[in-house]
Amino acid sequence: MRSSVPYSTLTLIGLAACAGGAVHERSPPTETTHATVVGSPMERNAKCESCHPTIAREWRASLHQQSATDPVYARAFAREPLPFCSGCHDPHADSSLGTACVSCHDTKTASMRARPCADCHEFPFPDGTGKMQLTATEHAASVHASRSCVNCHMPVTNGHASHRFPASRDPTMLRRAASITSSRSSDGVRITFSVRDVGHALPTGDIFRRLQIEVAVPGEDGSRRRVFLGRKTKLGEAHDDRPFVDGAQHAEVRVPIVAPGKPLVWRVLYERVEHPTSVDESEAEIEGCIELAAGTL
Ligand code: HEC
Ligand code: HEC
Ligand code: HEC
Ligand code: HEC
Ligand code: HEC
Repeated sequence: MRSSVPYSTLTLIGLAACAGGAVHERSPPTETTHATVVGSPMERNAKCESCHPTIAREWRASLHQQSATDPVYARAFAREPLPFCSGCHDPHADSSLGTACVSCHDTKTASMRARPCADCHEFPFPDGTGKMQLTATEHAASVHASRSCVNCHMPVTNGHASHRFPASRDPTMLRRAASITSSRSSDGVRITFSVRDVGHALPTGDIFRRLQIEVAVPGEDGSRRRVFLGRKTKLGEAHDDRPFVDGAQHAEVRVPIVAPGKPLVWRVLYERVEHPTSVDESEAEIEGCIELAAGTL
C-alpha cells in the first residue's frame, strides 16, 4: 500500500491564464502577462509553456511531467488503482500534464503556492494515520534545515531556477548526498554515513526506496551478508533505520561478518524497489539501483 491523502488537501490552486503570444523569457512581466483566467488546465498550461519554452523543456524531461505516466507508477497503479493515487499523480485528470506548471504556480501572479513542496511531498497513510511520505518533517530535523528544498532541487541554470528535478536516477546527486566510510573490527564491519549534500533522510520520498549494504569474502559465495536500511512498515510503522532520518549528522551500521585473516569487500547500493514480494527483503523486485560507495578491507 502506498497511500494517499484526502482529496481536499490535494485541491489544486486554479491558475489565471496569461495573455497569449510568445514573449522572451527575460523581458519584464507586465500587468497583463499573467492575468485573466480562461480555459482548461491543459489550455492554460500550454500558454505557460509557449512563453517559457526553456523551463517547459526542463519540465517535460522531469518526472513531475510524467507523474501520471511513468512506467513505474503505471505498474504500481495497476496493482492498486485507487482514486487517491490519481489525486496526486494525475491532479488535473489529464495524464499528459501530470504535475504541471498550473499545479505548482498560483493564480494571476504566477507566484508559488504557499507550501511549494510539502503539500505533495508529505502525506498520511490512506486511513489518515502516520505518514506515507515525510520528506518535509525529515527536512525540518535535518542539519540542512536552513537550506530550502528549492536551494538543492532547483539550482539556477542559465539564469533561471531549473525545473528538471533530478533525484534518485541521478548518480552524481546520489553520491553527493553522504560520505560513506568503512572499518573492520572483531565483531564485524562498520559502515559510517556522514551528511554532505542531503537535506532529509537518505533515501527519502517513496516508501520503497532503500539502501543495501553488502559485505563478503571475495570468491566465497556463502559468506555474503546484507543489511537493508529503509522503512519497514511490516515491522510497525515506526521502524525506520534510514540514515539521517532523526536529524543526526552521522549514522553507523554494523554488518555482522568475521573472517579472520581474509580480505572483505563491501558496497552500498541505493535501490528503488518496485514491489516487495514478501517480508524477506532480499526477494524484492528492484526497479533501479545505483552504487554509492565500495571498497576492500
Ligand atoms: C499526496 C500525494 C501522493 C499520493 C496520494 C500518492 N503518491 Fe505516489 N508519489 C508521490 C510523490 C511526491 C512521489 C515522489 C517521491 C519519490 O519518487 O520518491 C511519489 C512516488 C511514487 C512512485 C515512484 C515513482 C517512480 O518513478 O519511481 C510510485 C510507484 C508511486 N508514487 C505510486 C503511488 C500509488 C500506486 C499511489 C496510490 C496507492 C500513490 N503513489 C499515491 C505522491 C503521492
Ligand atoms: C504572454 C507570455 C507569458 C505567459 C503566457 C506566461 N508568462 Fe510567465 N512570465 C512572462 C514574462 C515576460 C515574465 C518575466 C520574465 C521572467 O521572469 O521570465 C514571466 C515571469 C514569470 C515568473 C516569474 C515571476 C516573478 O515574480 O519573478 C513565473 C513564476 C511565471 N512567469 C510563471 C508562469 C506560469 C505558471 C504561466 C502559465 C500560467 C506563465 N508564466 C505564463 C511571460 C509569460
Ligand atoms: C502538486 C504536487 C507536487 C508538488 C507541489 C511538488 N511535487 Fe515533486 N513530485 C510530485 C509527484 C507526484 C512526484 C512523483 C513523480 C513520479 O515519479 O511519478 C514528484 C517527484 C519529485 C521528485 C523526484 C524526481 C525523480 O527523478 O525521482 C523530486 C526531486 C521532487 N518531486 C521535488 C519537488 C520539490 C523540491 C518541490 C517543491 C519545489 C516539489 N517537488 C513540488 C508532486 C509534486
Ligand atoms: C541539502 C540539499 C537538499 C535539500 C535541502 C533537500 N533535498 Fe531532496 N534530495 C537531496 C539529495 C542529495 C537527494 C538524493 C538522495 C535521497 O534520496 O535522499 C534528494 C532526494 C529527494 C527526493 C527523492 C526522490 C526520489 O527520486 O526518490 C525527493 C522527493 C526530495 N529530495 C524532495 C525534497 C523536498 C520536498 C525537500 C524540502 C522539504 C528537499 N528534498 C530538500 C538533496 C536535498
Ligand atoms: C513542482 C512544482 C513546479 C512546477 C511543476 C513548475 N514550477 Fe515553476 N517554479 C517552481 C518554484 C518552487 C519556483 C521558484 C524557484 C525559486 O524560488 O528560485 C519556480 C519558478 C519559476 C519561474 C521563475 C524562474 C526564475 O528563476 O526566474 C518561472 C518562469 C516558472 N517557474 C515557470 C514555470 C513553468 C512555465 C512551468 C511549466 C512548464 C513550471 N514553472 C512548472 C515550481 C514549479
